Parts: sequence; structure tokens; C-alpha cells
Amino acid sequence: MCGIVGHIGPQGSVEIVLEGLKRLEYRGYDSAGVSFVDENNRIQTYKKEGKLQNLVNSLEGKNIKSECSIGHTRWATHGKVNDTNSHPHNHESISLVHNGIIENANDFRSELVSKGYTFKSETDTEVFLALVTVAMDDGLDFREAIATSFKKIRGNSAFVVLNEKTREIIAVKKGAPLVCGMHDKNSQVLVSSDPYALVGLADKIYFPEDEVMCSLSGANQNLLSFTELDGTPSKRFISKVQEMNFDPTDKGDFEHYMLKEIFEQPGLIRALSQYYFSGDGESRLEKISKLNPRHIYLSACGTAAYAGYVIRDYLEKFNRIVTTVELASEFRYRNPIIGKEDLGVFISQSGETADTLAAQGLCKEAGTETVSIVNVEGSTLYRECSENLLIRAGVEVGVASTKAFTQMCLTGRLMSFAMSGDFKNEAKRKEIVDKYNLLAERIDEVLDNEHVIKEIAELTYNKKGYFFTGRNHYYPTALEGALKLKEIAYVHAEGYASGELKHGPIALIDEEMVNIAIVGPDLYEKTVSNIQEIKARKGIIISLGPKGDKELEEMSDYYIPLNYDGLDELMPIYVNVVNQLLAYHMAKFKGTDIDKPRNLAKSVTVE
Ligand code: F6R
Repeated sequence: MCGIVGHIGPQGSVEIVLEGLKRLEYRGYDSAGVSFVDENNRIQTYKKEGKLQNLVNSLEGKNIKSECSIGHTRWATHGKVNDTNSHPHNHESISLVHNGIIENANDFRSELVSKGYTFKSETDTEVFLALVTVAMDDGLDFREAIATSFKKIRGNSAFVVLNEKTREIIAVKKGAPLVCGMHDKNSQVLVSSDPYALVGLADKIYFPEDEVMCSLSGANQNLLSFTELDGTPSKRFISKVQEMNFDPTDKGDFEHYMLKEIFEQPGLIRALSQYYFSGDGESRLEKISKLNPRHIYLSACGTAAYAGYVIRDYLEKFNRIVTTVELASEFRYRNPIIGKEDLGVFISQSGETADTLAAQGLCKEAGTETVSIVNVEGSTLYRECSENLLIRAGVEVGVASTKAFTQMCLTGRLMSFAMSGDFKNEAKRKEIVDKYNLLAERIDEVLDNEHVIKEIAELTYNKKGYFFTGRNHYYPTALEGALKLKEIAYVHAEGYASGELKHGPIALIDEEMVNIAIVGPDLYEKTVSNIQEIKARKGIIISLGPKGDKELEEMSDYYIPLNYDGLDELMPIYVNVVNQLLAYHMAKFKGTDIDKPRNLAKSVTVE
């Protein structure tokens, strides 16, 4: 959700924090702000509603010199989106930023007011600020005040707190991401909600565990130290050399990150099978090949959960293991029957989704082995699971997930392959590699024909509503297609199993409703009958079907021919790319903010 960056270093602190925020802006963009200690040792704060650029504009020409600053991009939870509710929040010598939710914030407000604190914002964050400053007024030092206050609150949160007097930053978290970084050569220390913000700025990174206090201070001091809440030194953190290398600011020739990421897919697919069959990934798959669970629970949220349905089909078809897909936000509340003989698989691009992490925690507690299918190496999910399969999608900046879905499904297919007993079988391996290469080739063809999809989008983007339909293995693709369209084009779209439409939603069909019908070679006749039912009620049909199918072409208003030959179980992944492009172009005709759709955040760290 919110992006956090803090920095202490010899110079240019605010510029560094702004650069970090720019990299994280796709994670929350309701407002942005920075606080820094100026040359007179006073905290200065600038914060602005809206995108980071508004804040940058407000800082123009200010010639800021600082060695110590914190910054934030907000995805609002408590309190309206406005300048006042933006972070950082300040009181006396303290300024702080927060990612997460304080569930019991209201329990403290009246007591804090009675102690003389005056609230300026509607946020839960300010309750923590008040707790800290009141504790300091009562005589505790900076660290003790944060520790005492942190023990009082409930919920998943990360705080980064700046003290003007000591020019020190303290960060602490529970159930929310936090990473520290250090650059030895130029003695700078950083803290962030995301390791991406630290790429190029820190050569060593540290992931603290929950309730470990991270203290950042200037040169000639300790730079970075970790303590427990009681003040004793802590060793509860993982340190590693920063290996990430990317330039998230580079869109190349593409107008949007989302389009760039759609086009990256063929290359990523080719690289994935190489990584797992002739690269570092092989040992990861080998470990997975030893698993033989009774029941597999796949748990995830949103697009990752839809990838879970595709993977479920693989595990059932090729491994004959009972597999269920569990929406992580629901799974933990229904007292699921999980045990040591089962396997929990958690799918996530960010590896920081709060509900997915909680579902993983539940399985771990029950003694169930847990495996992640994850993009961000070193993320919380990655660290919590006993085995990890990386999806190798690279940084996904577009808020709407595209390439991650494809890579999740394909990594899941490799997991299923590893567990099938054929892991060492060279001929079978080659079959998979060839199929992945074929998929990449076929996606290249779809991308070459992007103009066809764009023309259809232009003729249909202004209709009343959209039903994405598919049967069996194409049902997850229908769900994902609808999600993509609604999140970036702001239109009502639903994914439905083709056969279910007549059990109610068909009442909505008229000449203003569009049906994006996914037609695969299997269950062909039944799917086509469902199209006829919609056509009979004057619905507009966009069919995505086998190439050269004259009958389908004739019954459809728009027909996108697809070459399914040889793709077998990868067909749903292939057809999904058409839906990605359709959503992208419809959104473009609508004029929405494609890379940063309203109300969304890239990494959902609240439940
Ligand atoms: C949709 C989308 C979201 C995420 C979901 C899970 O385009 O991006 O639905 O898939 O929030 O996020 P991760 O994969 O980071 O756990």
C-alpha cells in the first residue's frame, strides 16, 4: 500500500527520498509528502494531495539542503484524501510516516486529548504520533517512547519516525514490509517499505523481523543498529547483498508500463524454462519434486488467485492431487481443515499481500509445509515459506498485473511437472521447454496483431457492460479478463462460467452489453451454444476462438482468431494476452490513468 522511504547521509537526502518515492509511487498515490531536518536543525514538512509530481512541483526552487529525511506516498485508509491527512505527521520535534492500520486507534483518542494533545488530522497514524510525543513528554527517551507506544497498538503497521533533536530515524514494524539499507562507501543509511526503493543506493540490505527496532543515525555514529522493544541488541534480521538491478523509470518506447509489461511476456516465458531447467532454479524445483501432499491449498488474492485456478487445473490434471483455490481474505476465517500431510502454496507478485501472508501463517501454525510462487525475492512471503518458486517477471510497475499472471501460471505448471515424477526425464523436460517457446512465439503473433484488438476496442469501449465468459480451463481467464478491464477502464465487467449465464445474469443482456466469449477447442459446441443464447438477446459478441472458424466468425460481431495448435494446457495463458490488450486499449480510449488506476495500490498490505 503506502510507500515509505527514510534516509540519512552526507547530502541530498530529500532528493534521494523523492527518488525512492518515485519508484514506489505505483504502490499508493493519493498523496505524497516529505519531512527533513534543515540547516537550522528544524523539521520542515511539505505534503500534497494527489500524485507525487504535485509534491515535487511544490518543492521546486527551494534549494533544500538536508542530511536526514523521510517521505511517504499514501493509499488512504483512515481519513479523506487531502493535504492534512497526508503523511508525514508532525508534533513538536517528531515527524512520522506510516504504512498499515491501527485497529484500536479510537481507544486512545480521548485520553490523549485529555493529556493536552490536539489532533490535526483524521488519521489513525496521528494516534501513534500522539502516543509517542506524550510518552516523551512523560520522560521517556525517543526509542523508549516508540517502543512503549508500539506495544499498545493493534494491527499490521510499519512506522518510520524522525527526531529533529537527535537527527535520528527509528523504524519498527509488525506484519508490514520494512527493509533497511546501507551504503558503506558514502556512509548513507536508508529504510523503506520496499527493497526496490534502495536499488543503487544501498549495497547491503537488512530485513528486520516484527517488533525489531531499526535505528538509523548519521556518520560518526552507529549508522544502523537493531534492538528489541526492551532495548537489548537484536539479531532478528536477515542481511543480504543488494542484487537487484533495474530502472523502473524506463518505459522505453511504450506509452505505458502496462503495455511494456504485456510486451515483455514472450522474453520472460523463454527465460523461465531456462532458469528452471538449466539455471539456478533447478535446485528449487528439485526440492519441490520430493513433495507428495494429500491436499494442496492454493491461496492468493486478485489476479494471483485467478492464476491459482489455472494452477489448480494443472495439479488436478497432471498430478491427480486434490487441490483447492482459497481466496486468502476468506481462507483464514473459516477454520479450514489443514494438517501436516497437506501443502499450502501461496501465490503473490509482491510477496507482501497482508491476507496472503496471514493465510501462510495459518498453514505454518498448523504444521503444513508452505511454498511460495512469488516475484519478489526476499519479500515477507519469500522469507516465511519453507520453499520458494520465483516467477521471474522482473519489476512490475503497472498497477494492473499482466506479466506476473502469465509467469505465475507457468511457474505453477513447472511445479506440477516437478511433482509428477518426470523431473529428471530429459524428453519430458524438452517437451515443456518446446511448449513454452511455442507459447512465446504465439504471444508474439498476438502482439504483432495488436492493431486488430485496438480496432475492436475502439468500437466497443463505450458500451454499458461486459461479460467475459469461458468454460472449464478458460473460466479463470474470463475472471482475469474482467478484472483487468474493470480496474483500468472503470467499466462494469464480470467474469462468468459460460454455462452459468443463463442462471441469472442473462437478464442483463441487451444490445448495449458486450460478451467477450473465450472459445477453446475443448467443450467447443457447448461454448458456442452459450454464445447463441446471448446473440439471441442482441448482445454484442467479441469471440476469441480457433482460427479459421467460419461459423464462429459469422455469429460474432467481432472475431479474434487464435492459433491454439500445440499449446495444450497453456491455452488459457495464451488467450489471456488478448484480454490484456483489449483492456489496455479500451482504457486508453476511455482516457483513464492506465498505470495508476484510481483507488488502487500495487501492494495491498492491509487486510
Ligand atoms: C490486479 C492485481 C491485484 C493483485 C492482488 C494480489 O491486476 O494486481 O488483484 O493481483 O492484489 O497481489 P500480489 O500478487 O502482490 O499478492
